[in-house]
Amino acid sequence: MITNIRSSANKPVLSRTEIGRMFDRIASRYDLLNHLLSFGQDVMWRNSAVKHLSDKPDQIVLDAATGTGEMLLALLRKNSNIKAAVGIDMSENMLTVGLQKIKKRRLNNTVMLMPGDAGNIPFIGNSCDAVTMAFGIRNVSNVQAVLKDIYRVLKKKGKVIILEFSLPENKFIKRLYLFHFRRILPVMGTIISGYRYAYRYLNQTVESFPYGIAFCELLLDAGFQNVYNYPMTFGIVTIYCGEKP
Ligand SMILES: C[S@@+](CC[C@H](N)C(=O)[O-])C[C@H]1O[C@@H](n2cnc3c(N)ncnc32)[C@H](O)[C@@H]1O
Repeated sequence: MITNIRSSANKPVLSRTEIGRMFDRIASRYDLLNHLLSFGQDVMWRNSAVKHLSDKPDQIVLDAATGTGEMLLALLRKNSNIKAAVGIDMSENMLTVGLQKIKKRRLNNTVMLMPGDAGNIPFIGNSCDAVTMAFGIRNVSNVQAVLKDIYRVLKKKGKVIILEFSLPENKFIKRLYLFHFRRILPVMGTIISGYRYAYRYLNQTVESFPYGIAFCELLLDAGFQNVYNYPMTFGIVTIYCGEKP
């Protein structure tokens, strides 16, 4: 399903180190804030993204910009065809929180977390059956470089599944949503995380990031085929999928 076009001209630019540091600062409260600010919808969004994975057995999956590992946990909860899953991220503190959750669920034999840049993935080419990335692509400094590197590490017929914020089509819902995003979310984010910039950054990046057709075109440019998008919750979040030919 195709929705909308929006340019990325005003996207704030932070270096990889600055992004990593920003997430280091909010890591301990990240999951709580996610659940609160999305009214618990973030869990459902990730579970829905997992449904787009193929049913091929024994898959090796990479979760890029894994953060606290929520997408990996959703993958293992909802899909029994995963042999091994690896999460990479730029923020050590986000990975530390993720590691604690993985140990608690005794998933150490299936899941591995490691520091890594989604634009320079520490994997050889053609090694993954699927690559997922939830709420990460909007944060990277070079979107095209990341999509190309995901393409490189995927096997033939491997699938990329990207989950990202987008903007609603309906004007009334869009106004309500932008009010929440511009006024309520930065205040709650600041109070709970104790860090003002992170949640202002979130709202600026979401409003300036390409979504719908515009993002599908980026996937096509990176070489993916069978590209489609699937908006959820009035279009505030979209799943994007593509396949390596
Ligand atoms: C909003 S969080 C999303 C975390 C997780 N995927 C989720 O679903 O909650 C964005 C994550 O992207 C990571 N990140 C940003 N740029 C990155 C890059 N170039 N390579 C790897 N991780 C990156 C940040 O450190 C942060 O943990």
